[in-house]
Amino acid sequence: MARILITGGRPLEGTVEVSGAKNAVLPILMASLLTEQPCRLKGVPHLKDVTTSIELLGHMGVEVSLGDHFSVGLDAGRLHAQVAPYELVKTMRASILVLGPLLARTGYARVSLPGGCAIGARPVDLHLNGLSALGAKISVESGYINARADRLQGARVVLDKVTVTGTENILMAATLAEGVTIIENAAQEPEVVDLAECLISMGAQISGHGTNTITVEGCRELEGFDYKVLPDRIEAGTFLVGAAMTGGCIRAVNAAPKTMDAILVKLEDAGARINTGDDWIELDMAGRRPRAVNIATAPYPGFPTDMQAQFTALDSIAEGTGVVRENVFENRFMHVLELQRLGADMRLEGNAVIVRGVDHLTGAPLMATDLRASACLVLAGLVARGDTIVDRVYHIDRGYENIEEKLGQLGARIRRLPAAAA
Ligand code: UD1
Repeated sequence: MARILITGGRPLEGTVEVSGAKNAVLPILMASLLTEQPCRLKGVPHLKDVTTSIELLGHMGVEVSLGDHFSVGLDAGRLHAQVAPYELVKTMRASILVLGPLLARTGYARVSLPGGCAIGARPVDLHLNGLSALGAKISVESGYINARADRLQGARVVLDKVTVTGTENILMAATLAEGVTIIENAAQEPEVVDLAECLISMGAQISGHGTNTITVEGCRELEGFDYKVLPDRIEAGTFLVGAAMTGGCIRAVNAAPKTMDAILVKLEDAGARINTGDDWIELDMAGRRPRAVNIATAPYPGFPTDMQAQFTALDSIAEGTGVVRENVFENRFMHVLELQRLGADMRLEGNAVIVRGVDHLTGAPLMATDLRASACLVLAGLVARGDTIVDRVYHIDRGYENIEEKLGQLGARIRRLPAAAA
């Protein structure tokens, strides 16, 4: 299994280009199922989750072509299967996003239940309740969700809990339903807004996206799209935290600072000087050690759970004590045990970790456990003395495009060790 070797001690310096947002690309790729017409998505990052999505769409009969400048062509004109099999869904939970569009366009979908996941139970009950409210007949048997509907009917859907992919599934389904759907307690994440904008470009009637109430007036058919995806706020945030931890100075280009308020405020609290333009962010730490910050994750516009692990790493070497509270997922602290192996001083208390900053970390072999946890281990490796080896980097490849190349360009000593060298 491939591993990443990091030799700590160098500040991050220079310019890094932010890739397209994974969490916007995935639902938008699935939105191609809503139309018979060809679609094109631009700014698609080269990620394992993108490959899995393309494989899943291909399995259903979507013709996929890769074009110039990170663009992907999709043609769902002739679907031959309405099934998302276990083998693909088990590697990527976001596969559940085919359910809404497939059902709405073809009247049938069979999707494997995603099952458990390293960061918590992550059920899909809210997706299913929402689609049932739109008139779908849903049964679950032999590990598969079977959903049927002649034509979905618009309805008022009140989500018990804010769910990002749940909102996206119901939103996509509602675009082809008869009548008006109102989604209350909807997710307000920028990636949900990006999906809504793409659907609008297909002719969907949507308003209120970016607020907690989204209204959709359904239509019979949608057109194809030619759309460029929004930049990845989590990838950008990860590089900025790396610069703050190493006392560095970087400029992230092709970024979307307007989607990153909660992250940038915390970096300023940690002592970073930040400047932003429409599509760039500069962070200068001027060689200083960061100050510890308190974090409490929450749905957007709150602090993103996908940045929690990275800030836990920052607090581990900061001046002072920080409390990091995880309010979105119940089991998202696997990185804590690994950071302790580097010498971090951390104590778990319920859904919080109390982090007392230490002078330095010392490199060690580590195990990546999930996508964002592995990014945090790489960041810790950038400041640890000596060598850190992060194993199971396939987790990182799910969501970070060429992470070792991008960090290498910023001056980090980092390289991938081939599986054979293990
Ligand atoms: C999405 C993101 C993920 C991010 C998460 C929270 C994608 C592809 N992934 O995941 O990177 O960490 O949002 O910002 O966009 N829940 C239920 N029932 C459901 C659905 C969710 O109880 O039917 C719970 C979950 O267990 C969790 C909370 O709701 O505690 C939020 O999860 P959700 O927003 O649905 O996460 P995802 O959409 O899976």
